Amino acid sequence: MTIDLAKIRAETPGVAQVTHLLACGSALMPQAVVDAVTDHIQLEARIGGYEAHAERESALATVYQGVADLLNADTDEIALLENATAAWCQIFYGLPMRTGDRVLTCEAEYSANALAFQQRAKRDGIVIDVVPSDATGAVDLETLAAMITPRTVLIAITWVPTNGGLVNPAAEIGRIARAHEVPYLLDACQAVGQMPVDVAALGCDFLSATGRKFLRGPRGTGFLYIRQDRIDGFEPPMVDLFSAHRISETEYGLRPDARRFEKWENAYALRAGLGVAVRYALDIGLDNIQAAAWGLANDLRAGLQAIKGVEIHDLGETPSAIVSFTIDGLDPDQTVTALRDQGICIGVSSPASTPVDAQRRGLPPVLRAAPHYYNSKAEIAQLLEALETLAKPVIAR
Ligand SMILES: Cc1ncc(COP(=O)(O)O)c(C=O)c1O
Repeated sequence: MTIDLAKIRAETPGVAQVTHLLACGSALMPQAVVDAVTDHIQLEARIGGYEAHAERESALATVYQGVADLLNADTDEIALLENATAAWCQIFYGLPMRTGDRVLTCEAEYSANALAFQQRAKRDGIVIDVVPSDATGAVDLETLAAMITPRTVLIAITWVPTNGGLVNPAAEIGRIARAHEVPYLLDACQAVGQMPVDVAALGCDFLSATGRKFLRGPRGTGFLYIRQDRIDGFEPPMVDLFSAHRISETEYGLRPDARRFEKWENAYALRAGLGVAVRYALDIGLDNIQAAAWGLANDLRAGLQAIKGVEIHDLGETPSAIVSFTIDGLDPDQTVTALRDQGICIGVSSPASTPVDAQRRGLPPVLRAAPHYYNSKAEIAQLLEALETLAKPVIAR
């Protein structure tokens, strides 16, 4: 099946306003997602927040099923949180680690994760081992396996980094993690909604993701997957009256499912929107979405290569829908502003967002564009033409 672009664009109000090519930042929501959010908010305004929750409780419960279907997981393995970082931190800060314990990670790890590594290194004396990349820029699998020591307590990898087009070999890493019985935390923030995600095939123990990027959900949504056999005995870094219950003055119990990582109070309107976004993606099909988005990204790369002064900074054998590039003599921030004035949205990714990779490659701030399946070839051409016009006077100098 190919996607019905006309229908999808008709269902996406933003495409009539802007040429939005930044799904890796925060994608355009389908109208159905907007409706689900506003409908719930309206209900809260009409009958009260607690009453709206009670009335929609069974519908809101289906959001867990949707996310579970998206990941090929069970509903009990899903916690809904406010973003990917909150989900990732539940695991990273919840895992007991002692001085000298080691965490294996990749060069293109996301900045927030890298900062958390630094915090626990300082606070708890853990050691962070960065696995070097292979010639393509992906995690070197042989080296990763060789770097596992008896003190390695976690493998924490970013699947699709925030810039650079890379898709790390997440399933192969899962096989190594399993073989060595090391827990595996996968940052799938940029993968969900862009490509099929199957936690069984990935072999990960934990997976974190966000709603607003390729999944096209509302901002302020995210989720955590934790494999069933890891839940029992996993102490969340924080508890409240939803995740835990009092047994006695000295004892408490935890919820038996992944929702022990959630809190009592939640943005139910946003959750309703997330649920619709997930179903929307599943209905179109993640294979179809990937083919369309990656196809447009490759068109963009081909067009960029033809513009004088452009350097593409993408890594990996088969790059994702995230395209990173610089243009000689053009300031990335000013370029983004100039494009915005023409109704075209792309972004800038600073070296701080992937600190190790940026340092290794000497990366400057890069322009970042990410077409999605709702974009058209005409929009790619529009961006290329605008970039060429901006680049021309500088290159001619
Ligand atoms: C690879 C990666 N991981 C994690 C995050 C953090 O996601 P969130 O802002 O939803 O916490 C991002 C955000 O850009 C990201 O690109």
